[in-house]
Amino acid sequence: MQTVPTILITGTSSGYGLETARHFLARGWNVIATMRTPREDILPRSDRLRVLPLDVTAPESISAALDAAGPIDALVNNAGIGMAGAFEATPMAMVREVFETNTFGTMAMAQAVIPQFRARRAGVIVNVTSSSTLAPMPLVAAYTASKQAIEGFTGSLALELAHFGVRAQLVEPGYAPTTRFSQNSGPRVENLIPDAYAGFAATVFADYASPSAVTTEADVAEAVWTAVNDPSPRLSYPAGPDAVALAENAVGAQP
Ligand SMILES: NC(=O)c1ccc[n+]([C@@H]2O[C@H](COP(=O)([O-])OP(=O)(O)OC[C@H]3O[C@@H](n4cnc5c(N)ncnc54)[C@H](OP(=O)(O)O)[C@@H]3O)[C@@H](O)[C@H]2O)c1
Repeated sequence: MQTVPTILITGTSSGYGLETARHFLARGWNVIATMRTPREDILPRSDRLRVLPLDVTAPESISAALDAAGPIDALVNNAGIGMAGAFEATPMAMVREVFETNTFGTMAMAQAVIPQFRARRAGVIVNVTSSSTLAPMPLVAAYTASKQAIEGFTGSLALELAHFGVRAQLVEPGYAPTTRFSQNSGPRVENLIPDAYAGFAATVFADYASPSAVTTEADVAEAVWTAVNDPSPRLSYPAGPDAVALAENAVGAQP
């Protein structure tokens, strides 16, 4: 690790990524906050902060960002998009769009940083998935699939990178009504509830709108901090009380 360690975070324009950038800055790390549309005004001014453009679906954007970043010690794959609706009504183009960001974007970023981590025999990749991977939830099948793929990917990757002293981990956030997630998912949610699903969907969305517990941006930033700084081989870190409860139930349900 460098004297002052450096973390690169994707999708820091809002929500969990923005708070994670703030969290690492406040704790003395060098932070490379990446955004599709860079903004300098949403994070505290610091000579340890750099804001770089990065779209995780564009290979040339990934290589330009990593060239500009220089050596890093940690990568957080936080960038993600949501989608809700009946699967039968979801165009495959939209499913692919979600996978391009949540799944292939995460994989491409990992592939781009692994060579430097392997060469230095150090480094950590934290992939942000979702509590939807901890228990099945209705009307989010394609989104869940995009995140569940990263759960399996990260578990396997962690084993092959451990050989080189490099870690790969998962942070599984619960539902936060306060990020821009629902707003950003908006265009992918409209018209995805056919009439036959209307009554069922109304009940499901009403349940989603009144959760018994929610996750905050700070819960996720803290979980990423713990994952990055935890030298143990632990793979996954649920973040937020709703996610922690689902993870505990999942463990309890195992034979
Ligand atoms: N909020 C929830 O309830 C919830 C629950 C579980 C998991 N998550 C996951 O947590 C992560 C962060 O979500 P959030 O709640 O903080 O939502 P958010 O406020 O919408 O933040 C998502 C971030 O990802 C960025 N992004 C989207 N597509 C990108 C791309 N192609 N390249 C680079 N950046 C891109 C967005 O940038 P732009 O500003 O450019 O759009 C934004 O900065 C996501 O992976 C999401 O799936 C969220």
